[in-house]
Amino acid sequence: MEKGSQSGRLFIKKSVDQIQRESLNHSLKRTLGRWNLLFLGIGCIIGAGIYVMTGSAAANFAGPAVLLSFVVAGTACAFAGLCYAELASSMPVAGSAYTYSYATMGEVFAWVMGWLLVLEYGVAAATVAVGWSGYMVSFLKDMGLIIPPEFAASLIQSTADEAGHLAFRATTDINLMAAAGILMVTVLLVIGVSESANVNNVIVFVKVAVLVAFIIIGMFFVEPENWTPFIPENEGGFKYGVEGIFRAASVVFFAYVGFEAVSTAAAEAKNPSKDMPFGILGSLFICTAIYMMVAAVMTGIVPFRELGVPEPIAVAVDRMQMPWFAFLIKVGAVAGLSSVMLILTYGQSRIFFAMARDGLLPRAFSTVHAKFRTPWIGTIVLGALIAIAASLLPITILGDLVSLGTAFAFGIVCISVLWLRKTCPDMPRPFRAPGGTWMPILGVIFAGIMAAPLIIDIVVKATLGDPIPAIILGTYLALGAAIYIFYGLPNSRLAQGLDILDDSPLPGAMQAVAHGLDEKKK
Ligand code: ALA
Repeated sequence: MEKGSQSGRLFIKKSVDQIQRESLNHSLKRTLGRWNLLFLGIGCIIGAGIYVMTGSAAANFAGPAVLLSFVVAGTACAFAGLCYAELASSMPVAGSAYTYSYATMGEVFAWVMGWLLVLEYGVAAATVAVGWSGYMVSFLKDMGLIIPPEFAASLIQSTADEAGHLAFRATTDINLMAAAGILMVTVLLVIGVSESANVNNVIVFVKVAVLVAFIIIGMFFVEPENWTPFIPENEGGFKYGVEGIFRAASVVFFAYVGFEAVSTAAAEAKNPSKDMPFGILGSLFICTAIYMMVAAVMTGIVPFRELGVPEPIAVAVDRMQMPWFAFLIKVGAVAGLSSVMLILTYGQSRIFFAMARDGLLPRAFSTVHAKFRTPWIGTIVLGALIAIAASLLPITILGDLVSLGTAFAFGIVCISVLWLRKTCPDMPRPFRAPGGTWMPILGVIFAGIMAAPLIIDIVVKATLGDPIPAIILGTYLALGAAIYIFYGLPNSRLAQGLDILDDSPLPGAMQAVAHGLDEKKK
């Protein structure tokens, strides 16, 4: 621990030595090959982003040019992913980016990172739950079971005023269906079910197969005139045009969240210097290619203005008038989205676990159940919070919050790489991001490109009389500051010179899946 002066209290740091001592993974073997890493990445990446957000990104911002938005967002992830991998290979610990910040920039940044990761994992789980609810409702309808719309839509919704301007308003609906999805996942996590190797592989197969089938069959239903104009003329603000492509990039950025799972498995890669770039860039490349083709087919079948719905692929498939295929797609979507909800909620519970062990959150979050060996109280509290968010907020606001938090988290990760290279040049780095200083610098620039349209949009909306997104973001940030000031600061174990709480170690968020992949080979 490095203690600073009284004024430097906020910037108190863990030493890299201490982090390595606390490492939960020090006994992990280097068993993951390049294909394991590639599969791990695809398993964590594909979810609501492609099944849901692509539709609203095309309808509201980019039109058919949403294809280009995927390239911009995928590039941002490639830079950040390689930086993540460099940190993860030197500090293979639970809590990943949160812990890296504790070692590089100090406690207050670690807290900020932890709070951003809540957006990247917890709020992302809520977002996926809303998408899950859309496909589930559509699937149940095909089975003859109608869910009343008021129980499958959020309290806050985007509605048009008399002049036709869209703005967020409170309604009397509540998305109980999304809350039910999170409830299911919470129960599984409390009793200790996480994805094993085989389940992960099956789900990756199902997710990819469903999307590839959609591309191949859908191609025959494309009406090319739906692709013109490819870049619709700007209608003001971020609606279409080049601005729209960048705004849509910050929406579909969500579709890549989770790819850092590959980076956090760096400690287990057989040959990190070769396998990490393969796993990270390979999974990003494959997902980008799939995403672009799905988006091309979707906007080719349905005019883009009609795609702003919770289940755009289902809408496109329904136009094909092949009920058996629609059924398959919906089953695939529900299975794929369930697995992403599980992984994200799991990840969030482990980040809270790491923060509670450091004394920055109440101990309940790191209390492990005697029988199930899971952080059960934390998981239940977390599940309740995620379910509330999923039932009250629309997918557009949730998705933007996730993208914003993730962009900032990526920026901090890239800055941490620069920082550590300067302050600890001799630290062992089994994997070093290629491209010298340029890689982290480009990572920061692209994180800015992802965040800027979101911030501008929130501010512009607020000035035009639609303050709900700004209020939600402001409340979230104020809540984070209040918890740190009133709980984290006085209880920080590092500041008191104490070791981390000694609860039983648990595997890191993504390592469980990684181990599962490993077991496959035994
Ligand atoms: N990338 C994940 C998804 O699209 C979070 O659902």
